[in-house]
Amino acid sequence: MLKSLQGKTIILGITGGIAAYKGAALTSKLTQKGAEVHVIMTASAKQFITELTLQSLSKQRVYSDTFQERDPSSISHIDLADAADLVLIAPATANIIAKMAHGLADDMLSTTLLAATAPVMVAPAMNVHMYQHPAVLANINTLHSRGVQFIEPGEGLLACGYVGKGRLEEPETIVSVVENYFAAQANAAAGALAGKKVIITAGGTIERIDPVRYISNDSSGKMGFALSRAARAMGAEVTLIAARTDEAPPQDPGIRVVRVESAQDMYEAVMSRWKDCDILVKAAAVADYRPRESAESKIKKSGDTLTLELVKTTDILESLGKIKDKQFLIGFAAETGNAEFYAKDKLVRKNLDLIVANDVSTEGAGFGTDTNIVSIYDAGGLVLDLPLVSKDEVARKLLLLASERIAGAAL
Ligand code: PMT
Repeated sequence: MLKSLQGKTIILGITGGIAAYKGAALTSKLTQKGAEVHVIMTASAKQFITELTLQSLSKQRVYSDTFQERDPSSISHIDLADAADLVLIAPATANIIAKMAHGLADDMLSTTLLAATAPVMVAPAMNVHMYQHPAVLANINTLHSRGVQFIEPGEGLLACGYVGKGRLEEPETIVSVVENYFAAQANAAAGALAGKKVIITAGGTIERIDPVRYISNDSSGKMGFALSRAARAMGAEVTLIAARTDEAPPQDPGIRVVRVESAQDMYEAVMSRWKDCDILVKAAAVADYRPRESAESKIKKSGDTLTLELVKTTDILESLGKIKDKQFLIGFAAETGNAEFYAKDKLVRKNLDLIVANDVSTEGAGFGTDTNIVSIYDAGGLVLDLPLVSKDEVARKLLLLASERIAGAAL
């Protein structure tokens, strides 16, 4: 029988409080449910519980020192952060909560937390007065607003002798919260787009100057590929119209791949499939201009300068916006400043249902990366802000949003 956490990689951060001993039960229960648990301990946690205990229970190496790199081919805190499906901090002291709120990174756990793009859950444990301190509450609020989920501490007799709120929630309850989270994620996603025909465009178009030269851009296709995988996972019938990309498109019988080269090719490929489509997402970076003439043979070097005359390409999204009826239309806006202003302008001008703004001059966002930083707008304004997360996560959240809107409109 498939275990409830099978296939999930969880980073369990254990920080220094008396409740650290419960980290052993938590590690054991998560592992028994099928999760691959990588424990990271702070130096203070090691005063309460040993690495050997947690290593024996998780059957994995336990981390505590950022600089103790055993494998020269990898950087542990980045590799761990990238592999995680969930980061769980239990018990979380006031100190780690403050570090998270302020972005401090001075040990293995806090550096991993900054590098992680997976969802984060925090189970605090501390003295009742510490828990009610305005600084702690402000830090908790800050983390809440960034999407961190808190597993509230229970009430009862605390190790310090006080009775009140601050006791780490029981490991069984924490494990149930984790199980429920993954179950809800799977339920929300699976079938959300069942029966829907989704067209995704990806990659960068190529505008030929001559048979050996072209104008293109830095799009790798990763954002469009992530969208195709996510749409497929949600049950959609996917057509991926891909221009030049760095990698091979997803291999999935449910994802039909159509390769194109130029903006005009993409226009034709989209238009011929448009009528049947329910959702169209234009993640491709399409050339706005192309050479007026494309030479039939290689242009020979002659004078000191060469002038290329460029003419406008057809704006595919704008054309679709004019003819759309039932289709849900999503555009992307690749900007290098004033992203909100330009994205909103494109949303209105192209008659889109949603637009995803990414500032491609920001590290970790835009072209070529596995991550993105996006703000999603509709005609009413900002709908969703996603700080640095994987492109898979952007894709999932965007398509869930689209599916909710379509379902809402059908009521
Ligand atoms: O492929 P990756 O390396 O993963 O990078 C992802 C990405 C940066 C390419 C992606 O996140 C992104 O922002 N894609 C849109 C790029 C773009 O062309 O943006 P734009 O602001 O110039 O265009 C706005 C929208 O109009 C886009 O949806 C675009 O597909 C569409 N458009 C533009 C021109 C045109 N002639 N026809 C169009 O349909």
